[in-house]
Amino acid sequence: MSESLKVAIIGGGRVAMHHCRMMEQLTEVNVAAISDLREERGDPLAKKYGVPYFDNYHQMLSEVPDVDIVTIATPSGMHFEHAKDIISIYEKHIVVEKPTFMRPEQMREIYTLAEEKGCKIFPVYQNRYNKAVRFVRQAIDQMELGNIRMASARVRWCRPQRYYDRDAWRGTWSHDGGALTNQGVHYLDILRYLGGEILRVNAITATQGVEVEVEDTAAAIFEFRAGGLGVIEITTAARPDDFEASVSIVGSKGLAVISGEATNILTTFSPDPEKCEINSEKFEMVYGFGHREMYGDIAGVLNNQNKPPVSFEDGMGTLTLLHGIYRSAELGNWVDLSENNQSVRLGRPDDNISALYHTPAP
Ligand SMILES: NC(=O)c1ccc[n+]([C@@H]2O[C@H](COP(=O)([O-])OP(=O)(O)OC[C@H]3O[C@@H](n4cnc5c(N)ncnc54)[C@H](O)[C@@H]3O)[C@@H](O)[C@H]2O)c1
Repeated sequence: MSESLKVAIIGGGRVAMHHCRMMEQLTEVNVAAISDLREERGDPLAKKYGVPYFDNYHQMLSEVPDVDIVTIATPSGMHFEHAKDIISIYEKHIVVEKPTFMRPEQMREIYTLAEEKGCKIFPVYQNRYNKAVRFVRQAIDQMELGNIRMASARVRWCRPQRYYDRDAWRGTWSHDGGALTNQGVHYLDILRYLGGEILRVNAITATQGVEVEVEDTAAAIFEFRAGGLGVIEITTAARPDDFEASVSIVGSKGLAVISGEATNILTTFSPDPEKCEINSEKFEMVYGFGHREMYGDIAGVLNNQNKPPVSFEDGMGTLTLLHGIYRSAELGNWVDLSENNQSVRLGRPDDNISALYHTPAP
């Protein structure tokens, strides 16, 4: 498989546009078809990239059967249903937008199915590809910062009521989750990516700036398995704009702070401050450029029969951390992540909302 890989996209909304923009910059992959339930969203995007539009993804995969990868960019609570269809019926590799799946048991089921069908799953955590994140990860691996004593993740973004009012799934426990799930999960992932697995968390959440059932603000403290401590501070109740998404690592030999709007600027690297500038990037939007790097990686994985960059255990680690934080807030107590503590709210079924985004089988 050395030709350009064909990617069909399900869900032609905000993030799908970004997938298309990033793929346009690569020769290894190209968009082959787009499906969206809403013609006014999917059709203009398909026209822009000169590919066919479908309102039904079954029809898309019947009429364009030779795709290599299907990207799932639908509402988060639908990823499970859509992934299950694509793998069980069409046996395609899938790229799944964050938070991959809403519940750990869904993730287990889809990976088991994928294994049976010989399909690969590529969860999207594009911030891992940010220059600053890569650089700090390498520095940690090479012990330049020493042992991690303290870490923090901080998101101060702005999501006003009109953001939630845009679509029925937004701001719901069943299909979205709040600031921790929709926006914060990237930075929970980066914390684990840089600092390793987390042993236990203690969290509180609140909804302050909007009227939705989920949280727009969360604060947590945690302990790494390896011993360091940490703080998580995530809010989308900042006004009037997005201010920052940062991660900091305090090691026994030095300090690294990655800041900017989306962990894109290395503001402090005490072992060698001169490394900051060349390891920083300017982003036009908070999505960054990581999707481009990710598709490049995926092409490499599929062409060379390698393992996906985010393994099952790795993706499950981030989902487990997310659930552990919610569970702690629900219980008002410490939660041990090794005990499979799951939120009772995140990803709970809501058939009425699912019905809005269901694609009938042919
Ligand atoms: N990686 C990132 O930085 C990032 C950024 C934004 C969104 N996301 C994730 O991407 C997903 C989509 O988010 P968005 O902001 O693009 O939402 P969106 O609402 O703008 O787009 C989702 C689209 O999916 C379509 N859709 C729903 N069900 C469908 C179906 N059965 N078949 C075809 N199309 C269907 C909707 O009509 C809609 O246009 C979410 O899971 C979100 O968490 C990731």
